[in-house]
Amino acid sequence: MMSDTGSNSNTSSSAGNPSTVRHDLLRKMPKAELHIHIEGSLEPELIFALAERNNVKLAYASVDELRRAYAFTDLQSFLDIYYAGASVLLTEQDFFDMTWAYLERAHADNVRHAEIFFDPQTHTDRGVPFAFVIHGIHRALEQAQAQWGMSGALIMCFLRHLSEEAAFETLEEAMHYRDMFIGVGLDSSERGHPPEKFARIFARCKELGMRLVAHAGEEGPPAYIETALDLLKVERIDHGVRCLEDPALTQRLARDRIALTVCPLSNIKLRVFDRIHDHNIRELLDAGLVVTVNSDDPAYFGGYINDNFIQTFDALALQPAHAQQLTRNSFAASFLDEATKQRYLDEVDEFFAKET
Ligand code: ADE
Ligand code: ZN
Repeated sequence: MMSDTGSNSNTSSSAGNPSTVRHDLLRKMPKAELHIHIEGSLEPELIFALAERNNVKLAYASVDELRRAYAFTDLQSFLDIYYAGASVLLTEQDFFDMTWAYLERAHADNVRHAEIFFDPQTHTDRGVPFAFVIHGIHRALEQAQAQWGMSGALIMCFLRHLSEEAAFETLEEAMHYRDMFIGVGLDSSERGHPPEKFARIFARCKELGMRLVAHAGEEGPPAYIETALDLLKVERIDHGVRCLEDPALTQRLARDRIALTVCPLSNIKLRVFDRIHDHNIRELLDAGLVVTVNSDDPAYFGGYINDNFIQTFDALALQPAHAQQLTRNSFAASFLDEATKQRYLDEVDEFFAKET
């Protein structure tokens, strides 16, 4: 993870770059995180601790060796390691411990509200009961609410490399825990698994009153963003950075205020962009899009939400007004009720009025 020293670190770790935003402003501003896969928060140290606790054999001899394997060439090369890492999760306590570790980091980053993805099929296909997965994660969310007043909500993702039939089976099981998650998403290998494969299950989830999101336009083409909107009827697009290749689509996203949950460090690690300096987030903002900043799989991509903000702002010389816009967007695009959203938006505006 990136670190810096002083409260105005433009003169320290970011010396020589033109950013005018203090790192402490980015750190301290209240924020929501809307794109975090809880299995992607599993740090190598915890993977090894859980492997030992559960007697699971790993293909890596040490934490360092595992970390050295985090040199990804594309989304699939990451997913192979990510699913292997998740194999150490067996008990309800494992899911609690993983989620609590994330929530502690998010709380330290001043995340006030987190909408968290989980991938039940990754676990149920290994024989882990659905109940262990959701009860462990949910208990950690309840503790964060009680201890810090930090809110959390769960979004269940269907793995798009698996079949529609498997997704329907997962939905049926999930209905026993309907009060513990707010909606569904679509993740895993994007190329070759277009949104239309899941049109019927998303229609069913919509009938059931669930909130809908999908990964699209991360590695896949802009057309996948369009079909996620038209056929899946999603309310937000996860990633979506390739939308700029299609000006009409970009205009539609801006006009309809469809939020993009952008994950800058993920995009670099998975080679969507070569360098953070090449990221298109400034262009996305300039196009009037409702962009948010998120960590995706922080244990694998080199940082949590504040690392994403800091590295992106430093590289692209973004300004305090961008920070205010991005963090306002995170609450506005959340699935919180309108009154709670407004309270957070007021808090953000008060923070910036005082700090800038
Ligand atoms: N699962 C976890 N992280 C993902 C990502 N960035 N894209 C698709 N599926 C994922
Ligand atoms: Zn993701």
